[in-house]
Amino acid sequence: MIKYPPRLQLANLPTPLTKLEKFKIPGFDGNLWVKRDELTGTEVSGNKIRKLEFCIAHALEEGCNTLITCGGVQSNHCRATAILGAQLGLKVHLILRGVRPELPEGNLLLDYLAGAEISFLPQDEWDGHESFAQNLQEQYLASGDKAHFIPIGASDEIGLWGYIAAYEELAEDFKRHSLDPDYIITATGSGGTQGGLIVGSHLLGSRAKIIAFNVCDSASYFKNKIKEDVSLWKQRYKVEIEETELNITTLEGYMGPAYGEADNSVFEAIASLARTEGLFLDPVYTGKAFHGMVSELQLGQEGKLPGANDVVFVHTGGLFGIFPQQRNFQFS
Ligand SMILES: Cc1ncc(COP(=O)(O)O)c(C=O)c1O
Repeated sequence: MIKYPPRLQLANLPTPLTKLEKFKIPGFDGNLWVKRDELTGTEVSGNKIRKLEFCIAHALEEGCNTLITCGGVQSNHCRATAILGAQLGLKVHLILRGVRPELPEGNLLLDYLAGAEISFLPQDEWDGHESFAQNLQEQYLASGDKAHFIPIGASDEIGLWGYIAAYEELAEDFKRHSLDPDYIITATGSGGTQGGLIVGSHLLGSRAKIIAFNVCDSASYFKNKIKEDVSLWKQRYKVEIEETELNITTLEGYMGPAYGEADNSVFEAIASLARTEGLFLDPVYTGKAFHGMVSELQLGQEGKLPGANDVVFVHTGGLFGIFPQQRNFQFS
């Protein structure tokens, strides 16, 4: 039995695990399953809400009335935090990387509508975002508020619980479907989803390999980041696990031109899944990971997912990220 710290019930759980019946991958005759975490909610959808259930519970325990967090201008995590703040009666201050666009689109539009305070930090000052957040915390304190800082993507030792719990939910799904998957696939951006799934599968003793496709940074970055988060998690919650036994596998090569920029193959993969299954991916995270997974499965035994028969793709949400990139879709 996994013993969890305090947690809020914010997400619509459990999310469905569905088998794709119509989407076919040439050369792959196994089964493709999707864990529908884009359905954790409507406006507060996707993977972040699972982590925020633990992070915000922690902030409330500390007596905070304000949340400060950070990310890209189109951050799904910032949008989820802004909206949860409005729902829970907490002030939210977002620190976004870049300059304020003339027209707020996608996630940023929702941030503004939810009433979040927003500071923009230019890319060349981004290294200082944590001290910027610290200054903000002091300013809030001086005006009688207590602010909790949630790091990028809520990927820290508290947020890690989100996908440990999600793994437990997956284990129940597998039992219900009599499924013993070979691979569980996710996009990775700040490491918390990947890390949580890896720790969850380790605690529950699973055979499935957790494979992440990175949308920024590198495989070695995610190895270090996850080891760091797990080590802090062990210290904070007094859990004994051997980090060296954790299998951290990140497949590189599908990031495309840069974080937040994708090439045509990703937009085609998004359109193809939407057309065949009515399932929508995003161009920043899930589209890249899905395209990576499909490309590797097509290569069969020569690819990086050998022996794949049952594969589970964790759909981590991100739909609002489609709209600022609508010009990249081509229709005849
Ligand atoms: C839609 C979506 N998928 C995947 C990820 C990656 O998750 P993580 O930050 O936990 O690595 C994110 C956030 O970064 C996201 O917004």
